[in-house]
Amino acid sequence: MLKHLAAAATFAAIFAAPAQAQNYPSRTITMVVPFAAGGPTDTVSRLVAESMSKDLGQQIIIENVGGAGGTLGAGRVAKADPDGYTLLLHHIGMATSAVLYRKLPYDTLNAFEYVGLVTEVPMTLVARANFEPTDLKSLIAYAKANKDQVTYANAGIGAASHLCGMLFMSKIETPLTTVPYKGTGPAMTDLVGGQVDVMCDQTTNTTNQIKSGKIKAYATTSKERLAALPDVPTAAEAGLPGFEVGIWHGVYAPKGTSSEIVQKLSASLQKALKDPAVVKRFADLGTTPSSDAEATPEGLKTKLTSEIDRWSPVIKAAGVYAD
Ligand code: MLT
Repeated sequence: MLKHLAAAATFAAIFAAPAQAQNYPSRTITMVVPFAAGGPTDTVSRLVAESMSKDLGQQIIIENVGGAGGTLGAGRVAKADPDGYTLLLHHIGMATSAVLYRKLPYDTLNAFEYVGLVTEVPMTLVARANFEPTDLKSLIAYAKANKDQVTYANAGIGAASHLCGMLFMSKIETPLTTVPYKGTGPAMTDLVGGQVDVMCDQTTNTTNQIKSGKIKAYATTSKERLAALPDVPTAAEAGLPGFEVGIWHGVYAPKGTSSEIVQKLSASLQKALKDPAVVKRFADLGTTPSSDAEATPEGLKTKLTSEIDRWSPVIKAAGVYAD
């Protein structure tokens, strides 16, 4: 009897999967953002989710799960049902955390299905508006003269803001005092309020604040000046060549999510990245959408694996890790 039941269950599972994919999505999807609301990852996610919702005909709600540099949110999705109704939008931190954390709540290369790349966002080194140094050179001199008195906001070990800060400190061979937040959304509130001195954050979070004069920018980490911030020099122009980093973002689903559902999500993501409203908002915020070829499972998998290889020696040389 049990044998027959097992066979029936397997038969049902085999024939249920395509039906699931055919009817997918039939209810609200949750997109986990592994940082607090109001930050750059949240901004990118809401723009993409809104456009994908229209295409898929179902709402995509954002769930902010901040903490531990994005690893708590990624862990939440790794453990979710592989039914296509829980997704993760995360960035370079998926690669750097794989090297930085001695113990992660997920297996980076085996706990997820890849949907596709979303965008690669430049960073800006910014400061509270009344901070004494007026340019990058005087900031470096000030940091050296005041040892670790300069406070530096980030979103925890593994965050893009952490990586950028680590690169900056190693480039200038001077430590800063790190102030961690659950995301650079809340960190920006303190920077604008003058409670923290400097931060390296993505243009998706800093462009409007720079333009309004609420914070000041010393440099971008891009190779060329940004059309959205034409008056901000690149780090190379400002006297710190080689200080370049771009924060790529990808969409993931739990391992075991059917390939039909993954392909449907990737197709919808590609459409969202060509949505004129998304393209314009990205441009206003200093970034551009990934191409169709990048917004695929293969595109994201290639990026993630190559970035783990790229950052491993850099992070190990910096001697930074988290338990
Ligand atoms: C970071 O890695 O710094 C995050 O992008 C911050 C955020 O999105 O809140």
